[in-house]
Amino acid sequence: MTDYLLRGGRVVDPAGGQDRRADVLVSGGVVTAVGERLGGSGATVLDCTGAVVAPGLVDLHAHLREPGREDEETIATGSAAAAAGGYTALCAMPNTDPVADNAAVVEKVWALGAQVGLVDVVPAGALTRGRRGEEMADLGEMARCAAGVRLFTDDGAALSDSLLARRVMEYLVAFDAIYAEHCEDEALVAGGHMHEGERSVALGLAGRPSEAEFLIAARDIALARLTRCRLHLLHVSAAETVELVRRAKAEGLRVTAEATPHHLALTDAALASYDTNAKVNPPLRTERDRAALVAGVADGTIDAIATDHAPHALQEKESEFTLAPAGIVGLETALSLTLTTLVAPGLLTLRDALERLSTAPARILGLEGHGGPIEPGRPANLTVFDPAATWVVEPQRLHSRSVNTPFAGWELSGVVRHTLLRGRPTVRDGELVTEVMV
Ligand code: DOR
Repeated sequence: MTDYLLRGGRVVDPAGGQDRRADVLVSGGVVTAVGERLGGSGATVLDCTGAVVAPGLVDLHAHLREPGREDEETIATGSAAAAAGGYTALCAMPNTDPVADNAAVVEKVWALGAQVGLVDVVPAGALTRGRRGEEMADLGEMARCAAGVRLFTDDGAALSDSLLARRVMEYLVAFDAIYAEHCEDEALVAGGHMHEGERSVALGLAGRPSEAEFLIAARDIALARLTRCRLHLLHVSAAETVELVRRAKAEGLRVTAEATPHHLALTDAALASYDTNAKVNPPLRTERDRAALVAGVADGTIDAIATDHAPHALQEKESEFTLAPAGIVGLETALSLTLTTLVAPGLLTLRDALERLSTAPARILGLEGHGGPIEPGRPANLTVFDPAATWVVEPQRLHSRSVNTPFAGWELSGVVRHTLLRGRPTVRDGELVTEVMV
């Protein structure tokens, strides 16, 4: 196995408390030295001048669509997008076809991810059979199988039945697994296509009110208190929900939360021209909500920035607004959007950005080898990016099989130069190393 010397970068490592100029020597898949002017004879040099060397990013929330919608994304193309975006691990959502509600499907997703080898694909399992919200899925079996599922969710929809939600939490607590919720009350959002407010009225579109989110979040926090289960709130979008999470944490409950780059960067103003690429669930909300999310990420109330990478077929996104599916691809823009919209204006430090994009999600998922620290003996899961370099988002040039992004044409700062998974470059000098079969 080739040794690599990452030369001349700035090591920013939230877990290890480091922010310093240092070389990083990688040998046999692990970090063997971090320090100034390392020798590393025989090692291949990866130029890191002007770049940040950070722990590989970890996404808590990505839809890879396989099995079932391989026309939109596959585990191979999604892994390529992830590596290109600086990720070394991601949690694959279970709303596939068939649904990942049993050991056979999660093991298949896990094995395909390992076979592609560009990123560690960590499958999430569904809470209920078929995500129908009626009976518990094979939770224990999924947790015990080779895929070792730790996060369970019916993402795409909330679990409506509160008693079933309680029973699932009581079950999950036994193996310290995470109950993760898509917080939108099904009845309250039925027929809605965007945030309910002044803009939905102006556009003549039925809305999805913030109440749909924070009512389910409040219920789940109450059930987490009752059961002592770990609760993770997916893609938080409303100011009131941020406050609920803040209070739950102050109380000492085991509650974590994530926000997406699109909810942190955009408001429902992005829908003014009926752009279906900005149609997403939960919906983009108001400036007040966006500001509350940013404050929540900055003070740690929101633990993680997660993509909710949701590829959709072009012909489906190009249909009428009310018919178009909801979702935004995010794996290749998350880091740059975070740097451009949060770090550059001084709303979030670079250290904290990397904590939310890598260290915290790795901790939540219990991924020992990811999220740093960058220290001798640790697996070399690293990303190297130039924070000052800029690029323009051209959807057709993304590695994802789908192009549904509202950020087309945006100039973003932050270009991934190298990504290393267990010491092997998956991206080198800005190019994907293993061109996958697509
Ligand atoms: O907009 C969304 N799209 N939100 C979700 O929760 C699911 C996702 C999808 O699977 O397309």
